[in-house]
Amino acid sequence: MRDGSSSVSDRPRVLPPNDPRQYDDLADEWWRPDGAFAMLHWLARARAALVPPATRPDALLVDLGCGAGLLAPHLAGKGYRHVGVDLTRSALTQAAAHGVTPVNGDATAVPLADGCADVVAAGELLEHVPDWRAAVAEAGRLLRPGGLLVLDTLNDTALSRLVAVEIGERLPTVPRGIHDPRLFVDDRELIAECARHGVELRVRGVRPELGGTLRWLVRRLRAGRRPQVGGGLSPSGGREPRIRLTWSTAVLYQGRGVRRG
Ligand SMILES: C[S@@+](CC[C@H](N)C(=O)[O-])C[C@H]1O[C@@H](n2cnc3c(N)ncnc32)[C@H](O)[C@@H]1O
Repeated sequence: MRDGSSSVSDRPRVLPPNDPRQYDDLADEWWRPDGAFAMLHWLARARAALVPPATRPDALLVDLGCGAGLLAPHLAGKGYRHVGVDLTRSALTQAAAHGVTPVNGDATAVPLADGCADVVAAGELLEHVPDWRAAVAEAGRLLRPGGLLVLDTLNDTALSRLVAVEIGERLPTVPRGIHDPRLFVDDRELIAECARHGVELRVRGVRPELGGTLRWLVRRLRAGRRPQVGGGLSPSGGREPRIRLTWSTAVLYQGRGVRRG
């Protein structure tokens, strides 16, 4: 209800950690620059920077767990057809509105042909998939020889659980209950699994810039829930925080690797 009153049906459902139905409940948040998924926008920009322009016509980028297609604006002009695979239909509808070809399906059993993809992206996906190894196998299967895998995910460490769940989910940057820390992905195991599927993955630690994130949080708390503006600006007009490299992969890390021929 929008008149300030509330009813039982307005209250968020209490769902188990990592339950995909949370994305339906949060469907209005995807494209709010300082909404519950704000940090996914920052990460999408950084992920897209790992993707070079396409080297051939009809190049295909398969975005596993694409959500509402937040990667799409950052790929503009790079020459890919952007296909997004996701379990959540409400997110795919929004992705389609941003130029993504939607495929409703599971990242562990993707209904696309072997070797069809020039690029596979898996942004903030693997830490949500109970069998992340099966998703990695699918990424390897989908990539053509010489194709590129780009991903980011949360490491399976005590520090990651502290920062991403205990602290992060109490801040406006991360929805509470969206993670099940038991699913977090050890970076060495991920490298080994990628190698088993023909992808030589290199990983590097990343984090949101500290000063920019603090300024963003202050603006966010001051702005409350006022209507938003887009274009990479937070509601009060500030620049969105950038994702920076950091020396440790212990919390959040990016991976980039090429499929062997
Ligand atoms: C944290 S969001 C990331 C979305 C998007 N990659 C981004 O960075 O904006 C995780 C997404 O993965 C999807 N997802 C979770 N498990 C999945 C699975 N097994 N197969 C496909 N999509 C899945 C969810 O529906 C959600 O849209």
